[in-house]
Order: sequence, then C-alpha cells, then structure tokens
Amino acid sequence: MKAKTASAIVISAALVLSFSACGNDSGSSGDSGSDSSGYNLIPQDTNGDGYITLGFAQVGAESGWRTANTQSYKDYFVEANGFKLVFADANQDADKQKQDVRDLIAQGVEVIDLAPVTDSGWEPVLQEAKDAGIPLIVSDRQLSVSDDLYLTYFGGDMLAEGNRAVDWLEKYIQDNNITDPINIVHLQGTIGSTAQKGRSQALSDAAPGKGWNIVYEQTGEFTQAKGQEVMESFLQQGKDFNVIYSENDDMTYGAIDAMKAAGIDVESKIIISFDGNKSAVQMVVDGIIDVIAECDPLLGPQVGDLITKAKNGEQIAKVTYSVEGVIDSTTAAEKVKTAFGS
Ligand code: AHR
Repeated sequence: MKAKTASAIVISAALVLSFSACGNDSGSSGDSGSDSSGYNLIPQDTNGDGYITLGFAQVGAESGWRTANTQSYKDYFVEANGFKLVFADANQDADKQKQDVRDLIAQGVEVIDLAPVTDSGWEPVLQEAKDAGIPLIVSDRQLSVSDDLYLTYFGGDMLAEGNRAVDWLEKYIQDNNITDPINIVHLQGTIGSTAQKGRSQALSDAAPGKGWNIVYEQTGEFTQAKGQEVMESFLQQGKDFNVIYSENDDMTYGAIDAMKAAGIDVESKIIISFDGNKSAVQMVVDGIIDVIAECDPLLGPQVGDLITKAKNGEQIAKVTYSVEGVIDSTTAAEKVKTAFGS
C-alpha cells in the first residue's frame, strides 16, 4: 500500500510578545526593566567574574534528540563565549527537576534555562527563582504557567509539529488513493510534556473527522526500549494496523525492531516519526520511515544569542518557535547530509 509522495516544507517562527529591557543594574538582583507580562529580570554578571553562569535544568538523556540538545549547550556555554555552565540532569523525573532548579537557585547561578520534563506544577519554583532575582528561560518544551514567571520561551511548537505530520498523512492518503481503513498505532512521548501533548493533540483532533481509527495508544516515554516494549505488547493483540504515529525517532526505532522480530514487512506500513536524527533520516532515504516532523535540538547557541541580546537591552520575544518542517522521500537525501546526531 506504500508509495512515495511529495510533502510540505517549512512553517516558521512566531514572535508573540516583545520584551523591553532598559538600563543595567549591575551587582543588584537583576531587576532592569519589564516586559508587557510584568517580567522584570534580565541576565547580568551579578558576581562580577566576567561571565554569565547559566544553570541548565535538563530533562534527561532519554533520546538521540536529547543527547544532541545537551551537547549543543555544552559546546556553546563556554568561557570563550562569555559563559559558564552548571548542568543538572533530571533523569526524566519531574519532581527531581523541581529540586534541580531549587539547587541552581541556591548555587546562585545568574540565569536558569529550564527544559521541563512536564508542563505543570511549576509556579512555586519559578516564583522562587524570580524572588531570588534570577532570570529564567524556558526552552524545548513549554509550561502551563503565567508568562510573568519567565523571561522567554525558545523551542519547538509541538502542536504545529503534530499538525505537519497529520497534514502529511492526509495528503499521502489522497495522493496514493488509499481506500483501506486507516488504523493507527500511536506511540506517545512522556505524558504531560508539551512535546507529547501537542503531537498527541494534533492526531486526536484530526482522526475522528477523517475517519482514522487509533487502534492502540500507549506511552513509550520517548525511549527506544519502551517504544519496542509497547509495540511488542500491541503486536501480541494481533490487531490490524497500517500506520505508526510515533512521537520521536527513538520509539520509532524500537517499534521497527519489534515489527522486524515479529516478521512484519516494515516497508508495508506508513511510519511517521518526529525529530530528525541522522539514522532516522537515513531510514527515510531507505524507504523504511515515510516522514519525520522535524524538531530542532541545537538550541544552545540560539538561547545564548537571546541571553546576550536581553543582557544588552535588546528586545526579545516572549515566545520564539524553532524553524521546522517535515522530511520525506523528496527531501531526505539532502537533509541526511546535515542531520544531527548519529
Ligand atoms: O521535547 C523534545 C522531545 O524530547 C524530542 O522529540 C524527544 O526525542 C525528546 O526526548
């Protein structure tokens, strides 16, 4: 039932609210202007050592995307660029991550970058950072908090990523005159992360109206091992399926391994993935994965640029989304040359 088709390209960023920074209260709490949300902290070298110390509260090390994301921070936030880095790994544990941020506050870092495991319950911790005069940036995944509790968000628009994947599937079905029922296996990411919520919402919003059936839905927690495990559980049920909507590449690898072990012809399935690791893009070239909705992990330099701009009193947006598109058979051969990771 598989055939190749053209696909959509790029949807770009949104600039939502402007941030107005003025003056430079060096050596003070960091108060120096406010944006329209009422946030009034900007990055400063408060200890006067000549560097901005960034405390990075990272999600964990669950995926190839995450490895590339961490490395981009470790490469960029170095003294040669005017920064020092304090790194905290939450090991995908939302409670531990709240303690990680409290530890960064106690250590007196000068800026915090929070890549949140999940999006809720952050108000008290963010208020503590604000009360301590430490500007806080949210990256990678968004938060369900009032925007007067953080300086800026930089990262993916997860709902838009999901919508791109769903639009690609709809077009693929039309272009290839597929009339069979569409039975989708949905492998979800970490429940409660905006990466999961946005990508899942895109599918659950679209499926009923298009007559698509979601025959299985389970979290694989963004890991290859769990992706394989949940796919194995599904296959044991013996249900029909022709589409896999897997919310990251690592779970896709696991699902493919499970299918191969069960003797299933993976090329006969429509496989939709997210991220764009080099191995996954190569699988698009090889006709195994059909489409990847991109998610950019190389955020370190881009966050660094925002910090520098804010420090220098330049306006920065309250929310900036990464520029991302989709990778399919029409673009994969070119994309694989510059794809991140291995
Ligand atoms: O938040 C980004 C997501 O987190 C990536 O899609 C996934 O691979 C990672 O674990």
